[in-house]
Amino acid sequence: NEIKIFSPATVANVSCGFDVLGFCLDSVGDDMVIRKTDKKGIFITKIEGFDLPFETELNVAGVSALAMYNAIDVDFGFEIEIYKNIKPGSGIGSSAASAVGSVFGMNELLGRPFNKTQLTAFAIKGEAIASKCEHADNLAPALFGGFTLVKSINPVQILEIPSPTDLYATIIHPQIEIKTSESRAVLPKEVALADAITQWSNVGSLIHALHTNDYNLLKDSLHDVIVEPHRSKLIPHYDDVKKASLKAGSLGCGISGSGPSIFSLSQGLEVANKVKEAIKLVYAETGIAFDIHVSKIN
Ligand code: HSE
Repeated sequence: NEIKIFSPATVANVSCGFDVLGFCLDSVGDDMVIRKTDKKGIFITKIEGFDLPFETELNVAGVSALAMYNAIDVDFGFEIEIYKNIKPGSGIGSSAASAVGSVFGMNELLGRPFNKTQLTAFAIKGEAIASKCEHADNLAPALFGGFTLVKSINPVQILEIPSPTDLYATIIHPQIEIKTSESRAVLPKEVALADAITQWSNVGSLIHALHTNDYNLLKDSLHDVIVEPHRSKLIPHYDDVKKASLKAGSLGCGISGSGPSIFSLSQGLEVANKVKEAIKLVYAETGIAFDIHVSKIN
């Protein structure tokens, strides 16, 4: 009648794949408890870690839970406890972890009537109240794990992309908040054809590189000519971090989701740790507080 779950943090966009690509981090995430209750409805009964609304309709986990609840016919309800470790507005899928956690847990307690694609569709409703638009590039990797590509959100179609065995992510999270809705507002509505060509060539080659374990091609593909030029201005010392990351041997460095977190990808744990030390040095000099961690991509 009760389940405890770990809902992972995720990195969306992965440089060239705005709103479609993402990968899962196994080292950071929220804990949640979902419990069946006699009273019908969805109730958020506990929130620890950050100050978030208890009203079901205003809470990301509550809204996605309601979307699923309205699709079933049961004579009981669910209570949700949220132990939040992922800071809202940090760029590593905080709202997605909440949105996915509630529906994943409920589905388990119900005996898995829904598949992961259907769970993504429910979770999109929760994610939308945080970022004021529907996107699934954090939800999909949180549910499916590893690398994912969102082929479409209406209807939901998610592709699971394999990743090379030795791929690691280094994530730095400066302790400032950037709301996804705000960092979407700085983006242009139209892009130049030449930039679009560069971008879709990079997305295609990145997917090919992941399928073929081609680290050189991976390195050549991790570029973003459309979103990064606008958003990087919102992140203090972004260019210095990127320079330090590449110099320390990373394959590429970009904005994690809508920022301010910055991710680097590296071949092997040793390089990922070197990248971590190099980036740390950049931020240590700025006086801005930060978290930094390394995660294997499975
Ligand atoms: N693709 C979304 C964006 C992810 O970059 O706005 C938000 O976490």
